[in-house]
Amino acid sequence: MNNENKNMSRRQAIKGIGAVALGTTALAASSTAKANEKKTKKELDGKTALITGGARGIGLASAEELAKAGANIVLFDVASDLEGVNYPLATDLDLANAKSKVESYGVKCVSYKGDVRDRSALSDAVGMAVKQFGTLDHVVANAGVTQIGMMEYFSEKEIQTVIDINVTGVVKTIQASIPVMRKQNSGGITILSSVLGRMGEEWFPVYSGTKWAVIGLAKSTALIMGKHNVTCNAICPTVVKTKLMNNKYVLGAMSPENPTWEGLETLMKQWRNPLPMGAYNPNEIGEMVKFFASKSGEKITGEVLGVAAGLFARNTA
Ligand SMILES: NC(=O)c1ccc[n+]([C@@H]2O[C@H](COP(=O)([O-])OP(=O)(O)OC[C@H]3O[C@@H](n4cnc5c(N)ncnc54)[C@H](O)[C@@H]3O)[C@@H](O)[C@H]2O)c1
Repeated sequence: MNNENKNMSRRQAIKGIGAVALGTTALAASSTAKANEKKTKKELDGKTALITGGARGIGLASAEELAKAGANIVLFDVASDLEGVNYPLATDLDLANAKSKVESYGVKCVSYKGDVRDRSALSDAVGMAVKQFGTLDHVVANAGVTQIGMMEYFSEKEIQTVIDINVTGVVKTIQASIPVMRKQNSGGITILSSVLGRMGEEWFPVYSGTKWAVIGLAKSTALIMGKHNVTCNAICPTVVKTKLMNNKYVLGAMSPENPTWEGLETLMKQWRNPLPMGAYNPNEIGEMVKFFASKSGEKITGEVLGVAAGLFARNTA
C-alpha cells in the first residue's frame, strides 16, 4: 500500500468511526426523545369521557381531573332552570366556560345541551363522542338535583322531578352508554350517589330515596356488564361546596339561624364526623372519579365509595 492509499484508508476508517459515533448519538437522541415522550404521555391520553351535569360543580371538577390526565371530554348539561327544582341550575355561560376550562388542559372538549330525562339526547351525545373521538371509555352519571323540606309538603311536581332526573336520568345515561362499551369490550361508569344513599335523612326524604336507588343501579350494571369488561361503581359524598348546597333555598332550610355557607360549615363541624372538617371541594370528588376511570380502578366494580369525613365508620359494614 503506497502512502496515498494508506492515508485514504485511514481517512475512511476515521469517517467510519465518526459515522458509528454519529449513529450512536442519533440513537441516544432518539431514545431520549422517546423517554421524554413517555414522560409527557398522560394516563388517559386518547381516552374519552362523557360527564352529565358537566357545566359546574362535581361534574366540571371530574371533567377537569380526567382532562388533566389527558382524556377528551363531552360535557352534557341541561344548562337552564327546571320546573320543580327550587334553585338555579347551570346556565349556557357556565357550559361555555366549562368547555374553555377543560380545553385549557390541552385536550378536546365538546359540549352538549341536553336533559338526562331525554334518552334520545343522551344517545345523540354518545354518538357524537364516538364520532369525534373514536371511543367512549368512561361515563360519569353525575347530573342530579336536590330538594329539602317536610315529607308531606313536597309537591307532586317536585317529587316527580327529583325522581326523573336522579334515578330515571341515570338509567337512561347507562342505557345510552352500554351498547358502545359492550361493542368495545371495555369502559367504565361512575354514578354520583350521596351519603344519603346509605342512610336516611328527615329533611331530604325523596332525594335520599333517589340516591339509594342509584346504588342498586350501579351494582346491577356491574353484574350485567362485567363479562364485557365494563365496570360500574358509585361514589357517596357528604356535603361538597357546590351550588347544589350553596344556594338560598338549601341554606335557608339547613341553617335558618345563619343561612350562609359559613353558617352551614359551622353546623357541619358539630356533626359527629370522625374527621373534624367542613365540606369537601369538588376536585376531591373529581379525583375519586379519576381513580375509577384510570388503571388503578379498572378492576374494581359494583363498589360504593364513601367520601364522607369518616361518617360511615359508624355504619355496619
Ligand atoms: N354537592 C353536594 O353536597 C353533593 C353531595 C352528595 C352528592 N351530590 C351529587 O353530586 C351530583 C352533582 O352535584 P353538584 O353538587 O355538582 O350539583 P350542581 O347543582 O352544582 O351541578 C349539577 C349539574 O347538573 C346539571 N343538571 C341538573 N339537572 C339536569 C338534567 N335534568 N339534565 C342534565 N343536566 C342537569 C345542572 O345544570 C348542573 O350543572 C348530583 O348527583 C348530586 O346529587 C352532591
